[in-house]
Amino acid sequence: MTKPTTDDLRKAYGLGGYSATRAELRKLVSPMLEVQARHTDLAGLIDSSPICGDEPHQMKVRPTWSAIRDALDLDTLTALCMGSVKWTEVTEAIRSPAHLGAPSTTSKSGYTFGRPHSLTSEMVAANNAAIMGDAEFLPTVAYEPSTFGLQDVIEVHDHIVERCEVSTNDAFSAMRKYHSTEEWHDKCSAAQNMVELRGAYEISAYSELPERVKNCIALTELQFDDVDAPTEPEAPTTVAKYELPAAAESSLIDLALKNAKLPSIATLIEEINGASAKIAEAQAKAEAEASLMASASAPTVASGAYPSGKVRLKVAADVFGFTGAKRKTFDFKIPVWEWDAPHPLVPAIDENYIFRAESLLMVLYSIITNQPAWLHGHTGCGKTTKLEQVAAYTNFPFMRVNFDSEISRADLIGRDTLVNDGGATASTFVEGILPQMLQTPCIACFDECDFMRADVAYVMQRSLEGNGLLLTEDGGRLIKPHPMFRAFATANTVGQGDEFGMYQGARVQSQAFLNRFKTFVHVPYMTATERRKLITSHHKLKADTLDKVCKYITEHLEAFTNAKVLQPISPRNFMAFSQAIVAFTDMFGDEAKAIEMAFDMTILNACTTQDKAVLKGIGNRVLK
Ligand SMILES: Nc1ncnc2c1ncn2[C@@H]1O[C@H](COP(=O)(O)OP(=O)(O)O)[C@@H](O)[C@H]1O
Ligand SMILES: [Mg+2]
Repeated sequence: MTKPTTDDLRKAYGLGGYSATRAELRKLVSPMLEVQARHTDLAGLIDSSPICGDEPHQMKVRPTWSAIRDALDLDTLTALCMGSVKWTEVTEAIRSPAHLGAPSTTSKSGYTFGRPHSLTSEMVAANNAAIMGDAEFLPTVAYEPSTFGLQDVIEVHDHIVERCEVSTNDAFSAMRKYHSTEEWHDKCSAAQNMVELRGAYEISAYSELPERVKNCIALTELQFDDVDAPTEPEAPTTVAKYELPAAAESSLIDLALKNAKLPSIATLIEEINGASAKIAEAQAKAEAEASLMASASAPTVASGAYPSGKVRLKVAADVFGFTGAKRKTFDFKIPVWEWDAPHPLVPAIDENYIFRAESLLMVLYSIITNQPAWLHGHTGCGKTTKLEQVAAYTNFPFMRVNFDSEISRADLIGRDTLVNDGGATASTFVEGILPQMLQTPCIACFDECDFMRADVAYVMQRSLEGNGLLLTEDGGRLIKPHPMFRAFATANTVGQGDEFGMYQGARVQSQAFLNRFKTFVHVPYMTATERRKLITSHHKLKADTLDKVCKYITEHLEAFTNAKVLQPISPRNFMAFSQAIVAFTDMFGDEAKAIEMAFDMTILNACTTQDKAVLKGIGNRVLK
């Protein structure tokens, strides 16, 4: 079994036409795959793959080596022929795409089938260079633009649009890339104008096209074939304005947003303003409810450990101290507590907590309308803290149960316990955390809900229904929720199981339980600017050290969201990192050494060996 030579590959690429090249590459790789696949349990592989199956987002792939080969993309086929990726890397990319595969924005499964993430774009470029014998990998001599008439250019366009399923615009920008001459760009622009003006048209047969046109098609097609791993878009920071910017500016912003794979500025603003409108609507209802509360609640909670208090309605912007554009968005009233004495369950305000307008609006909306919300987002994005800080600013007591641990039904509801009753032992029912929460006016945080067990979820579901919780264990006592009890769930997923391959314990939650939640709020990671602000507000780093740390965090987050490492980096982590840098610099006076030690201690030592290797690589590049 011999590897195909670069000559064989060059011939394959020289055939002109994507399909012809692919057919030839398949032929070249077959002898190798046929032998190597004998040791692979193909049925098991396809069965266990999250991207194969009958669901709409999955691919139907027969469990044979040739079917797998036929589903591979051109780069992967080439890399297999060149020996730069191994068959086992391909099978692992099929088995666990989130960890070992290559994300794709064009494929319905979200991954390029069988393409290992070890196949980097540099490696693809190097392979292509080796085949074409040119560092620029695509030989500009493959077609000579000056020999093209307008009709030829249009023909290239038509075939690209049909084969690659791309827009006219994308086809032309791909075509323009191969030749930088003005003449070629003018021809492309002229052809594009004609294409946009013409009516129905017929595409000419590929086989009858002149060789130069075929070459041009083949080369242009290659651009749509290689998939770069998309980076997690940073949430836009432009939305603070809430008014559509001038047309020229909007289109620039849209371009940037589009590159970051985000909706247009108009859509974003509409969403936020929509939320504000919803809030205004909800406010009328809330005012009625709260004034009722305010009159009735003065004596509500003067029980043992807790002081008594009243609900007041205050303008959200005042409560959170917002100024400028944010003030206008938060110009609505929210319920705020006033307590006779400090309430032990009201958290302290963290001055440095940065609120995002969108998710804060949603949380306040849930409080006003008394509709449970489900906050989801990656570890450390600030879900729990967001609820805690909303409680801090509004003086709501904050109560939290963490479902991350193996919490049981009895922990939640309560159990019979033996107590000493004047010398005799008696059995009494002691309430669990849930009845206590329900009876308290509080922001209840059901934390890490996607780890909840089904029997526990059932209890939760009943208690969120509004009719109250029936304690069968305590003689069928009914616990009615306090009118100012507000429920929130936080989770890494939307309760449909682990879609990222990062949260192994996440369970699929029942629809009945999920239906209790009226709003689903996505909490994004802080933006780079916000991270920088947070660090500077706590730790005095030198400007270039701060730059390095910020750059590192951005790249670490990117590696995490692309599943290159399993270890996230939360604000907790990078704050510890920054703090350690400051401390070690003071101790040793040698900043480079301080960074290195702090990096080892606060980031690397917490990781698995595999993550360590990747993160160390990033560190070596950006922290030096
Ligand atoms: N927007 C933010 N502003 C300031 N600190 C934040 C912000 N988001 C997260 N943090 C900090 O990050 C850490 C992790 O947040 P946490 O709420 O525990 O995340 P999650 O519950 O999403 O895992 C906390 O120390 C919190 O103070
Ligand atoms: Mg949390």
